[in-house]
Amino acid sequence: MVRGMRILHVAAELFPYVKVGGLADVMGALPQALRAEGADVRLLLPAYPALRDALGGVVSAGPLGPFAGVGEARLLLGRTAAGVPLYLLDLPSLFDRPGGPYDERGDSCLRFGALSWAAARLGRQGDAQGWRPQVVQAHDWQAGLAPAYLALEAGPRPATVMTIHNLAYQGRCPPSVLKPLGLPASAFHLHGLEFHGDLGFLKAGLVYADRLTTVSPTYAREIQTPEQGEGLEGLLAHRSGDLTGILNGVDPDLWHPSRSPHLPMHFASSRPSGKKVCKNHLQRELGLRESPAAPLFGIVSRFAVQKGLDLVLENVDHLVALGAQLAVLGSGDPALEAAFRAVAAQHPGSVGLRVGYDEGLSHRVIAGSDALLVPSRHEPCGLTQLYALAFGTLPVVRRTGGLADTVVDATSQAQAEGRATGFVFEDPNGWALGEALNRACGLYRDQPAAWTRLQRTAMAQDFSWRTSARQHMELYRALVHP
Ligand code: ADP
Ligand code: GLC
Repeated sequence: MVRGMRILHVAAELFPYVKVGGLADVMGALPQALRAEGADVRLLLPAYPALRDALGGVVSAGPLGPFAGVGEARLLLGRTAAGVPLYLLDLPSLFDRPGGPYDERGDSCLRFGALSWAAARLGRQGDAQGWRPQVVQAHDWQAGLAPAYLALEAGPRPATVMTIHNLAYQGRCPPSVLKPLGLPASAFHLHGLEFHGDLGFLKAGLVYADRLTTVSPTYAREIQTPEQGEGLEGLLAHRSGDLTGILNGVDPDLWHPSRSPHLPMHFASSRPSGKKVCKNHLQRELGLRESPAAPLFGIVSRFAVQKGLDLVLENVDHLVALGAQLAVLGSGDPALEAAFRAVAAQHPGSVGLRVGYDEGLSHRVIAGSDALLVPSRHEPCGLTQLYALAFGTLPVVRRTGGLADTVVDATSQAQAEGRATGFVFEDPNGWALGEALNRACGLYRDQPAAWTRLQRTAMAQDFSWRTSARQHMELYRALVHP
């Protein structure tokens, strides 16, 4: 095995410090799994105050020089709690501000242009102590210009990988930022940085990176079609030979029914009684009727069109009529927040809602529910259904992206073969979800032994980061030792 390959991961989120969605979970877990495979992995993120303050023991790792007329940039170096070396891009005028990672003051083009630029500088020159990556892996649009900066300048450079976590967010910026970002106007064309008249951060990464990855095999195929390609399907199909779908994993120290620090009681496949305690606790926590027999459906989600939650809203009356309950944790789109507030007010005791972001409650919803709803219109990978499987909570998902790759529908054949782990529906409409809900409620009520079998199969699934890390190592090897 090739050991010690130096890999730099560049991203805008990192669990447990700065999290909006699954990207943070991936950045919090994949580097450790890669280190276990022998890679010398480091991370680069902006010096958000939340991150800088949490690290401690941060040292200077060298000046980077002036950036875009907004100040002098420098690198700091610390370590995450898990021991992974982490560079922070210190550029106070862009990053020293309260709030989440995507604070919108109209300067996100500069902020994430700076992140990409810093990655390229570190990639080419190394840090003050002489560490220089052999591969730079850029995650999502915020890091998308890094492969472009590296490819557009002459001279030796590290290999580059562009990873798509979600093609729906592309980072489109006005062409006027090319100049402050120091990118050549000559590269602003269809086969370069330009996307429909804008500077496309993600598009640039997809053009200039040596290899492309995304977070599930099915999504890798879907994004080469007009339905899911978000206008980039032609480019992605053209680069099909360089594109790999590598499934995300589950961090077993966090998302495990006998290890999660957030549950009222632990449980396991062989000791299932704790799950009943978790269900009862969740019913009380969200003001639901304390009914052990009611099928309890959970949701933990960003409220965004992508997630298909409008299909759930269409089915709330139906669910309540079936005697089922709904436990919802999420935030985002104000219209969806208002709609969920309305159904919760309409069905007290049957629909429990917490609007907001709450790490502990996310574990308790996923552990305490009988089934988890993930009816996404598109889902590059999806992590909550993986967490649900680990907790013996059967996912109800639409057959798309990573959901299609990780949940096996409870057809009679799949049940007979002992492969079934959840309920899968095809069409993105309320009726199709309603059918899946009927099947789930029917199995839960009428065939408890079959339900238990599904739970056991679900809990026995192995979505480990090791598999994902090994696939990454193969990719790095091909790039570093072709
Ligand atoms: P996405 O990245 O598209 O939001 P994923 O399923 O990959 O979808 O990841 C979502 C992550 O965010 C999971 O770790 C999930 O538990 C978490 N999450 C989503 N909404 C909330 C919330 N309101 N409170 C706590 N955690 C949340
Ligand atoms: C994105 C996707 C989600 C994926 C996550 C981590 O946010 O929406 O499907 O699981 O990234 O890769």
